[in-house]
Amino acid sequence: MKWRGYLTPVTENYLHAYGVGYISYVLARKFHVDSVKAFVTGTLHDLGGAVPADERVTVAESIGISLNDEEREVPLLVHAKLGKYFAQILFDITDEDMLNAILFHTTCIDRASDLVKIVFLADKIRWDRNGTPPYLNGLLAALEISLDDGCSYFLKWLWNSDLYIVHPYLSRSYGAYVRQQQYNPISLQDFSVLQGNLNENLVEKYYLHDIYQEFHRTFYHAHLASVLASKHSVNTEEAYVTSALVNMTNTIKDDELETIASVLNLNVQVPIRPQLTSILARDEYGITSLEMLKTLKSFPQIPSNHNSLLWVVAMSWICQKSIKCEVEDE
Ligand SMILES: [Fe+2]
Ligand SMILES: [Fe+2]
Repeated sequence: MKWRGYLTPVTENYLHAYGVGYISYVLARKFHVDSVKAFVTGTLHDLGGAVPADERVTVAESIGISLNDEEREVPLLVHAKLGKYFAQILFDITDEDMLNAILFHTTCIDRASDLVKIVFLADKIRWDRNGTPPYLNGLLAALEISLDDGCSYFLKWLWNSDLYIVHPYLSRSYGAYVRQQQYNPISLQDFSVLQGNLNENLVEKYYLHDIYQEFHRTFYHAHLASVLASKHSVNTEEAYVTSALVNMTNTIKDDELETIASVLNLNVQVPIRPQLTSILARDEYGITSLEMLKTLKSFPQIPSNHNSLLWVVAMSWICQKSIKCEVEDE
């Protein structure tokens, strides 16, 4: 991540979320894992971050999430368990693999599925701190060999850094991927799915409904775009990712755009938001497809060519806003 004083922390969080979703998608394609599932899981991995660190222990315990000593001492670690809970309760996700990928995104775990490893590593590739991660080149080289090599490389780096505390899951991961140690399967209790409705006070206090709306709209838009793309001979993968990413700057308010335009020297004669989205996709996420970048920059224009990526992305956007969508009924 580069330093950007012109974006709010909320927008930075969304950029991190979509960035991890995008890298998870890319890694999933590389390692033959369901890429849409990877995008959704990667995007939702930090849902627990909606609760500020100093309130996480109280909130987690109030909804029946069991914590260990390490999590009580370093509340930052609690966001993984809270995130899994929010994914279940807010997004109705029941897929254990997706829930585990959120639960283990900070530490990984021995015997992890490919999806768990992918979201774990995507979060490290698209870290949420300033500058380039010092391990990035080594991690990317290790990923050219395998996901396990990627896990091993990063875990070695992490183990040799200044770890304040070692979470039990991290200890098992290091043992498994670096030292090839065997462990008995982790207690099933750790994987249990909590039931029940989310307390309305929590929903309101932590803007969980807004977060749900934002991500749900993005996933639906991307889904519709890939359906539409398949009917109009447009690359479905580019349609899915591009449609998701046009939403990455949604949290920027209109009155913030002028300041951003002056900082980045953008052309104020044409819409600022699409220019910014395209620049962030290129510089932040490393997207090189000219068609995708051009589409992000031109959205939401509707071109006459129905077989273009821009037409698919723009039409699916209009469609996701209507209650009865005809794309899926065609
Ligand atoms: Fe996280
Ligand atoms: Fe993260």
